Amino acid sequence: MAGFRLEGCELGVATAATQVEGGDLDTNWHRWAAAGRIADGSTPARAADHWNRVAEDTALLTELGVRHYRMGLEWARIEPEPGRYDQAAIAHYGDELTRLRDAGIRPLVTLHHFSEPGWFVDAGGWLDRGALPAFLRYVRTVVAAFGDLVGDWITVNEPSVYAVHAYLWGVWPPGERSYRRTIAALEALCAAHLAAYPLIHALQPDAVVGVAHHLRVFAPQNPRNPAHRAAAVLTRRLFQDAELELTSTGRSLFPVQAPRGVRPGRYTDVQAINYYSRSTVTGIGNGVASGVDVNDLGWEVYPAGLTELAASVHARYPGPIWITENGTADAADAFRSRYLYEHLAAIAASDLPIERYYHWCFTDNFEWAEGEVARFGLVHLDYDTQQRTVRESGRFYADIAANGGVTDAAHDRWVAGRRYPTNGGRS
Ligand code: FCB
Repeated sequence: MAGFRLEGCELGVATAATQVEGGDLDTNWHRWAAAGRIADGSTPARAADHWNRVAEDTALLTELGVRHYRMGLEWARIEPEPGRYDQAAIAHYGDELTRLRDAGIRPLVTLHHFSEPGWFVDAGGWLDRGALPAFLRYVRTVVAAFGDLVGDWITVNEPSVYAVHAYLWGVWPPGERSYRRTIAALEALCAAHLAAYPLIHALQPDAVVGVAHHLRVFAPQNPRNPAHRAAAVLTRRLFQDAELELTSTGRSLFPVQAPRGVRPGRYTDVQAINYYSRSTVTGIGNGVASGVDVNDLGWEVYPAGLTELAASVHARYPGPIWITENGTADAADAFRSRYLYEHLAAIAASDLPIERYYHWCFTDNFEWAEGEVARFGLVHLDYDTQQRTVRESGRFYADIAANGGVTDAAHDRWVAGRRYPTNGGRS
């Protein structure tokens, strides 16, 4: 198969507030950068300066021809002090959302994407008893303000990724290493979704609300080794199954417990999946097999995993699926087009109800603890001049959007002959 049509799946791109907006704010990530914890010494204060370039970036989205844009809101901008809502910041987001709608681009808004205000951190973050009411106050304010512009919401992005990096591995703020607190953070983020879901629906009955789950394939390094097999099952349970079950149905699944008072039921309108890679494991955690295709960060490229995971989610939680992130770090833009092609081909070949695909990322951006070095953009960013340049893979994506699929000519121009690097092995 060279070309293919992409029936029933609309295209978009994704971003997150802290990763693109820039600005000298007080968030957990600005503090983490000030403490010297970003690998390349960069900070989110620069990023893609999107806050000041909304008009330019909306024009660029139009140039790419995408119908959907996933964006985040920076809680610290909206509520810089507890209970004080910044009307100018709210108006700024309102203008952005209006601009998008006027351009025929449908926004999908993420309420929490790894970042929170300094005052929330000072109060104890997600492990504090006041976290949930504070979050719900913010959600109520935002949905009331933007309900006429936004119908699609992601409450929380990747609860388990946040909990594990921040509380188990200690590489994200607040940098703790405690299994007990990891589970508590995961439960708190799931509880935030379970409470936000009915709140959003009460304010906006037709809203479509979900959690963006980071799903990976977890494969045992040696499938004949029972310890490796058990590690794959347990890692999957901890990183994704428990979160999926709790946020989709309100039911506990070891090791997470449903919050008191939550009745089992339906708590998501769409299954939102962020998919990047396969992990090959020998113990609890991540790892990468040897001799496989990898991106700039050493993550395995494994396109079949996208629909494998979507199928397993769909079997347990039937309903529409959105791929809310998928993309790769490729500074040279040497293989991103192939990555796009192979992941979209998997979607085209499946009969799952995958309605939308949001490529991560629109432009290069601040990649959390990695900083500015990891380049995920369809659009190249010169951080010093803030000059945006559409990469060849971005042109390919625009061509797919324009044609409703990959033409044979596009395949020849952007995909044929492109290869991934392979690794020497790491685990
Ligand atoms: C995901 C995050 C997103 C981005 C990509 C590369 O886990 O949701 O913000 O960092 O990874």
